[in-house]
Amino acid sequence: MKILETKQAVREHCSTLRKAGQSIALVPTMGFLHEGHLSLVREAARRCDVVVVSIFVNPTQFGPNEDLDSYPRDTERDLELLAREGVSGVFMPSVDEMYGATGDTFVEVPELSSILQGALRPDHFRGVSTVVSKLFNIVQPDVAVFGEKDYQQLAIIRQMVRDLDMPLAIVGHPTVREADGLAMSSRNVRLSEQQRAEAAALSQSMTAAETIASEGTQIVELKRVITEVIEENAPNGKIESVEIRDALTLAPLDGALDRPAVILLAVRFGAVLLIDQRVIDVTNQLG
Ligand code: PAJ
Repeated sequence: MKILETKQAVREHCSTLRKAGQSIALVPTMGFLHEGHLSLVREAARRCDVVVVSIFVNPTQFGPNEDLDSYPRDTERDLELLAREGVSGVFMPSVDEMYGATGDTFVEVPELSSILQGALRPDHFRGVSTVVSKLFNIVQPDVAVFGEKDYQQLAIIRQMVRDLDMPLAIVGHPTVREADGLAMSSRNVRLSEQQRAEAAALSQSMTAAETIASEGTQIVELKRVITEVIEENAPNGKIESVEIRDALTLAPLDGALDRPAVILLAVRFGAVLLIDQRVIDVTNQLG
């Protein structure tokens, strides 16, 4: 497994692979890897001959009061895990290598980026779409794999790739969870024992909603059930948002459930913002 610290090193590595006729799948990450990330790596390996993973805690997607400095890191462990997965190269640039001195250009998907999480985190998705574009240009993968856990992020990247005719396929992969249903996240280690126990309420609340959902169920009723389950089971969690949106366009839904919908949750436990998502497809339109 090659450790690649410069863009030039990545270009040379990938160009050699391409010349040998090998297809390349990219898995972008911010490190502190868990089973969720590794399942993306395995999906990538199923899709292409070789897998390149990037580890870069991207400063442009963190707001001034967010957790950039305290974002968890463990490079040695990350590299061990990736070597075990048979990854071909790991791109780990410094901030300076990635952005250089200037960095005046951004890639923006303004409509999808200003709603939901984007309304809570201004400029966050602009940072994501910009760094992901840069990674695509540096690695030039045939396929890139992203988690459905970050549902809005995935929707934004799909839109960006469509709008800018980027020559690669985007693959979404289902959320990997702990035994109690909590979506795996690098941020989970920062929860206290009590918060960690309560955090299972996010997944429980969506299961409760799913249980009562059928064609014609009122959206407000679903939201009420979700809110109730979280408030009851996570007294230390502060609900930032409970949204039910069109699963394909993320447009707001109201009235009766009549199309594939996605529940999007954001719940804060102290300094840690947890997000989760579940697609509800009572009409079986998504196949
Ligand atoms: P990060 O939070 O490290 O996540 C990297 C990838 O892993 C994302 O595609 C994310 O959706 C996926 N992922 C995280 N937890 C998961 C889980 N429990 N199950 C399945 N997939 C999961 O998302 C980012 O980094 C950054 O925004 C990035 C895209 C790398 C741009 O900086």
